[in-house]
Amino acid sequence: MTKKYEFPKGFLWGGATAANQFEGGYDEGGRGLNLADVLPGGKSRLKLLSQSGFDFEIDKEKYVYPNHLGIDFYHRYKEDIALFAEMGFKTFRMSIAWSRIFPNGDELEPNEEGLAFYDRVFDELHKYGIEPLVTLAHYETPLHLIKEYGGWKNRKLVEFFDRYVETVFTRYKDKVKYWLTFNEINGATHMPLFGLGFSATSDELRLQESFQGLHHQFVASAKAVQLAHEIIPDSQVGCMLIYAPVYSYDSNPENAMHALEESRLFNNFCGDIHVRGEYPKFSHRFFKENLIQIEMEDGDLEMIKEGTVDFISFSYYMSRTDKKHKTPEEIGQGNLIGGVKNPFLEASDWGWEIDPEGLRVALNELYDRYQLPLIVVENGLGAYDKVEEDGSVHDDYRIDYLRSHIKAMGEAIEDGVELFGYTSWGCIDLVSASTGEMSKRYGYIYVDLDDEGNGTLARSKKKSFHWYQNVIKTNGEEL
Ligand code: BG6
Repeated sequence: MTKKYEFPKGFLWGGATAANQFEGGYDEGGRGLNLADVLPGGKSRLKLLSQSGFDFEIDKEKYVYPNHLGIDFYHRYKEDIALFAEMGFKTFRMSIAWSRIFPNGDELEPNEEGLAFYDRVFDELHKYGIEPLVTLAHYETPLHLIKEYGGWKNRKLVEFFDRYVETVFTRYKDKVKYWLTFNEINGATHMPLFGLGFSATSDELRLQESFQGLHHQFVASAKAVQLAHEIIPDSQVGCMLIYAPVYSYDSNPENAMHALEESRLFNNFCGDIHVRGEYPKFSHRFFKENLIQIEMEDGDLEMIKEGTVDFISFSYYMSRTDKKHKTPEEIGQGNLIGGVKNPFLEASDWGWEIDPEGLRVALNELYDRYQLPLIVVENGLGAYDKVEEDGSVHDDYRIDYLRSHIKAMGEAIEDGVELFGYTSWGCIDLVSASTGEMSKRYGYIYVDLDDEGNGTLARSKKKSFHWYQNVIKTNGEEL
């Protein structure tokens, strides 16, 4: 007999997106440019993202810029939200594009047209009883702040961010209760460009600059938590981590210690600061050995202590397997976030190792460490979809992936983990963050658009649409 899982009553089932990857309307409504607008589409993006010296210019002769159009949610939000409602979404994760509210990022007054757009989106969600879950910063630092100030390396961004969050909290206080501060904040040391809005000056300075930028974000996040509680008394603010459990490659104790160290630094460092309000002790040794010196202002540590989060949200796509000494052949064989190939796991077409059990590990590790409510706000399979002649998409591979991960969540709940929601990534096909491709699809809803920007943008339901609709209807009993 198939095992049935018991998800808590009121579990927040839904889907997740980010403004820069699906909104489009990049030059409409008074919006300013942001980081994603200068990222080209295609495989060259990943290379540009990881090297130093990116110039932040748009070169349309050489590249396509898929984030400019996204999937045109800016004009089609009513149709899209109606489809989310038809699936039964209880919540919808989206981000506010900072540069729609403050086009340059450093103005004193917000852009009314931008504010009005999100009013319309939130109203439309509430019309169907869908609770918005809003990320304040999802890889979309205003371009002006990058070019003029050097991104989050610069302390000034704390002040600008503070003004932006106060504006949106005040404006949407009756419409949005759940907020997230910085998307995948701990990804910053791997790719500072995305989260911190700068490309490291050199490989030698990468760690120093990234941890300084992160410190500014910790202060900004803590301020945001405090502000939210003041302005919206019933609000809940979470941090957002990219979580990848680290497995030791084998039982060699030095590999076990290495896995532990890597996991602490990648998975726990930011979480410890957000949740416990303190730099963890292990970071002192790491900073000393890597000659990292963080400039702080008086009051920063108090602010961080007082602005701890109410819950933890995280993305889960893969685990990581690692060993202390890698052979030259093993280097680069692991996942996007490093390590070595895990012989027990299959990978997606983009080489991301598929590991549902790792999600159960992640949930247990996080809950054991923090005892705060958890929500999985990203998870899913990026895959090539084939449209049949009749227009249907039989994405059984996606259903299998999601089913196995939802089962892992069910197991974790039985383990005692307090999990209150699940928003799978890219519930409607959108532009991939790492490659800028449309063909890396995650959605339940197909969008007719290719990597070059050709297509009608028409929406259609995939097989997984109906499957997820039933999952929500049965509160996870029928998978
Ligand atoms: C997460 C990001 O890292 O992964 C999303 O928060 C991103 O923005 C998602 O889209 C999936 O990654 P990708 O590169 O397949 O789009």
